[in-house]
Amino acid sequence: MNKAYNAVITGVGMYVPDKILDNAFFEKIVDTTDEWITTRTGIKERRKLETGATSDLATKAAEDLLKTHNVNAEDIDVIIVATITPDMFFPATACLVQENIGAKKAWGFDFSAACSGFLFAYQTACSLVESGTYKKVLLIGADKMSAIVDYSDRNNCILFGDAAAAVLIEPTEDKSVGLQDSILKCDGSGKNFLYLKGGGSLNPPTHDTVDKRMHYLYQDGKAVFKVAVKGMADISYELMVKNNLTSDDIAYLVPHQANLRIIDATAERMGLSKDKVMINIDKYGNTTAATIPLCLVEYYRAGKIKKGDNLILSAFGAGFTWGASYLTWSMD
Ligand code: COA
Repeated sequence: MNKAYNAVITGVGMYVPDKILDNAFFEKIVDTTDEWITTRTGIKERRKLETGATSDLATKAAEDLLKTHNVNAEDIDVIIVATITPDMFFPATACLVQENIGAKKAWGFDFSAACSGFLFAYQTACSLVESGTYKKVLLIGADKMSAIVDYSDRNNCILFGDAAAAVLIEPTEDKSVGLQDSILKCDGSGKNFLYLKGGGSLNPPTHDTVDKRMHYLYQDGKAVFKVAVKGMADISYELMVKNNLTSDDIAYLVPHQANLRIIDATAERMGLSKDKVMINIDKYGNTTAATIPLCLVEYYRAGKIKKGDNLILSAFGAGFTWGASYLTWSMD
């Protein structure tokens, strides 16, 4: 593919709320144990935003990025917020962030692809930059999952947390760095396994939709697990083969953090040892669109990613949606 530029990540930022919900908290509110949660999912803690909304998480992650990398908000061209928990159906959360950070010349939009939201939006953001049309795209993965989690449903409430993380994407003429390739997929036949059916045009909110708890996330965990474990592993391996990459060529797998067993299966399929897999599911659980950028920020700030490292980002989520992206890190 002929691209005018490659798209590189030139800044990162994150925000997680202070309030921690550990497994002991869930032992008190539903019939579960720390041992069950730890062995089945790998999760020990997750965060909860007590006041505010997804735009507040996203704004704080954006502000962290701008401050850390000394970027002027007025120079940002586009803001994309990947989320399934927007503050409202409209206006877009991206507009709220635009106002909060003072990105006076930016336009923006929200991107809905559930747990693949960051990955799909990353490809989109890079395309805006690769064409030469835009110079600074701020991409934020943000979800306040606590707003749509039913805390009486032990199958699901233990899985999710609130967080946001941001990346700044800019053009470079150096084709050896930045996004190299992606394979992205969706299959709507997965719609019956993971959804939030109330509140939209299908089931506008009524007393009845609320009584039936349709405003909460529903997941058939076992069914999703089976497809996710194969989907994420297969597509990550396919991307490696397509780009002639061996496990030695890859510095890190950056997987969506839904379940440690899905992550382990993906790494195994790719022939990667544990030290080449970014993991923070133990601290944050599944933060939906925020998981992948949250890993990038933490590992970068810990000095574990260096310029020239090849990363494979990989995700699976509601829709179904899934995919993998191969990028070469460009920041020192
Ligand atoms: N504590 C204790 N027991 C629980 C429990 C909990 N929090 N949640 C469910 N159980 C029970 C179930 O009721 C079931 O009991 P039963 O055998 O009497 O019916 C038993 O544990 C086993 O449930 P199962 O669904 O087989 O567990 P699992 O090993 O598949 O793990 C998930 C459940 C949700 C952790 C797992 O299926 C999963 O991670 N699914 C996919 C999540 C995902 O990737 N989502 C994709 C995008 S976000």
